[in-house]
Amino acid sequence: MSKSRAVRDYLETLALFEEDLYLPREQSIRKSDATVPRELKALEGAVSPLPASLAEFEQSICNCVRCALGQTRTKFVFGDGDAKARVVFVGEAPGHDEDQTGIPFVGRAGQLLNDMLAEVGIDRKSVYICNTLKCRPPGNRDPLPEEKATCRPYLRTQLSLISPEIVVCLGKHAANELLGTDLPMKDLRGRVMPWEGMKLLVTYHPAYYLRNMSQKVHGDADFKLLRSLL
Ligand code: URA
Repeated sequence: MSKSRAVRDYLETLALFEEDLYLPREQSIRKSDATVPRELKALEGAVSPLPASLAEFEQSICNCVRCALGQTRTKFVFGDGDAKARVVFVGEAPGHDEDQTGIPFVGRAGQLLNDMLAEVGIDRKSVYICNTLKCRPPGNRDPLPEEKATCRPYLRTQLSLISPEIVVCLGKHAANELLGTDLPMKDLRGRVMPWEGMKLLVTYHPAYYLRNMSQKVHGDADFKLLRSLL
């Protein structure tokens, strides 16, 4: 379908329903290989030289034992999704389900994340999802500062290789890790900030809504904001 036809259809649908509708569901937001230059700039703190690809990088670090979590994890949880995604989501750390499967955000919080993405017409497969830590902290405790520091080059290398337009931080651990701050969510959430030549958007972690569903309106607003940036 041509762009102008799609826009006309969209406006007609809006006129019919007179409400705040978004683009058709489950749209792919993948970069087009033809139009996007792949000039990669290594972020400060990324491994040097940058690996040739995400897959090669994963192979090189998936047996990591640089911190104690390497002894207790079941699976290393590198990341999941499109290696050329325009949007990267960064969570906190793998939980039980992720530790068992090796895939980020596959448990209840992951299901909610998928649903929230679908609600604004974004297909999970067209984004990339990873965590601040690659291994599960026992009992799902908060990541320790030294664990974050040890994993930092891994996240920074992933972001360098993907080079997304937008990084969405799910919760305070991801946000403060990337921003180098120690701020409460009330000062961070719902804001789009310039970060390393990208846009950084902070929203609550989906696990927060599982505990406080009445707060999900804020997440919905943030995801609509994300959609509008694309
Ligand atoms: N919570 C996270 O922060 N990351 C996951 O992968 C799963 C739950």
